[in-house]
Amino acid sequence: MEVKFTDLTGPTRQIAKKYLKAVEKFLGKGNFILTDEVRNFEKDWARTVGADFCVGTSNGADALYLALKALEIGEGDEVITQGNAYNASVTAILRVGAMPRFIDIDPDTFCMDAGKIESLITNKTKAIMPVHLYGQMNDMKAIAAIAKKYNLAVIEDCAQAHLAKFNSRYAGVWGDIGTFSFYPTKNLGAFGDAGAIVTGRKDLYEKVLALRNLGQTAKNEHRYLGFNMRLDPIQAIALILKLKFLPAATQKRIKAARYYDQLLEKAGVSIKPQVGDSRATHVYHLYVVQSLSYDRDKLREELSKRGVQTAIHYPIPVYRQPFYKGPKDPCPTTDKILTRILSLPMFDNIKRQEQNYVVQCLKEILR
Ligand SMILES: Cc1ncc(COP(=O)(O)O)c(C=O)c1O
Repeated sequence: MEVKFTDLTGPTRQIAKKYLKAVEKFLGKGNFILTDEVRNFEKDWARTVGADFCVGTSNGADALYLALKALEIGEGDEVITQGNAYNASVTAILRVGAMPRFIDIDPDTFCMDAGKIESLITNKTKAIMPVHLYGQMNDMKAIAAIAKKYNLAVIEDCAQAHLAKFNSRYAGVWGDIGTFSFYPTKNLGAFGDAGAIVTGRKDLYEKVLALRNLGQTAKNEHRYLGFNMRLDPIQAIALILKLKFLPAATQKRIKAARYYDQLLEKAGVSIKPQVGDSRATHVYHLYVVQSLSYDRDKLREELSKRGVQTAIHYPIPVYRQPFYKGPKDPCPTTDKILTRILSLPMFDNIKRQEQNYVVQCLKEILR
């Protein structure tokens, strides 16, 4: 049996006909940049996550860059993020000229160990950037309280956390700005690159609106040094249509994760799933486990031989990547966990039969 790591054919088929019809209509209008389609998706996404404002962007990496720029974070500033942050989160900090500082992660939840944040705060610290990896939100209550105490901005990287919640509030609305990626494999994915920021602050909304469009505040008036980081209407059309299916697709992922939990518990193998925070709603962009006693890379190889595709998010922390020259705060737990983690197949329409097979293979390899 073959089990793919992810499968986008189902969600694509779901909207394909309507999408092609909508694109045909769009082509007839003869207007291609920052159209109503973009504005409509921005309204829909803001409403969905309970934000006052949304600005569509070219992708999630640019959304992070725009967020930092709008907050005027740059040269000489420090931004606190976590050891297992994705490359794009750290790159955005470096791209504005600031320095990342790394907080170690919790060994069970793989989230930022919020209790360690204060030890890294200096007079250069300007912001905290929690990255809600895999679909589970960081402890936003603790992070928001620290940010308030030290007057720091909060930028939530929600690229993997569409519709995730912490204490019944959605990812993206806890801090000053939340950023999203709609990369095709994300829980809400376009048919190419796309992203967005959400915010409750009108000043930041207006600034990002201008920054993503060459700093333009009115026709021929460029108040800021800006960029071309606009959301493409062709992607906005796909996102509007796909958004209608997102709540149901999210529930399917949660159900599939619960099923994996049960199967793994019954199997009694030395595999430990990511531990959920009871205050958070995990949306399982990824179902990540730790291999406690068997070499992770060998396990991956053995699964692959049996037709099971897996992935690692991520095998090397950004602070150990060759390009990275900034501060390397010690993160021993991150270093250890990244050698053990494995992402099992997870997508909206994964079948129970496929999940049974994945766990059966694990049993066979680990017995
Ligand atoms: C956590 C995280 N942040 C940022 C990004 C960057 O998003 P994009 O690929 O749309 O630039 C991604 C997506 O890959 C991500 O997973």
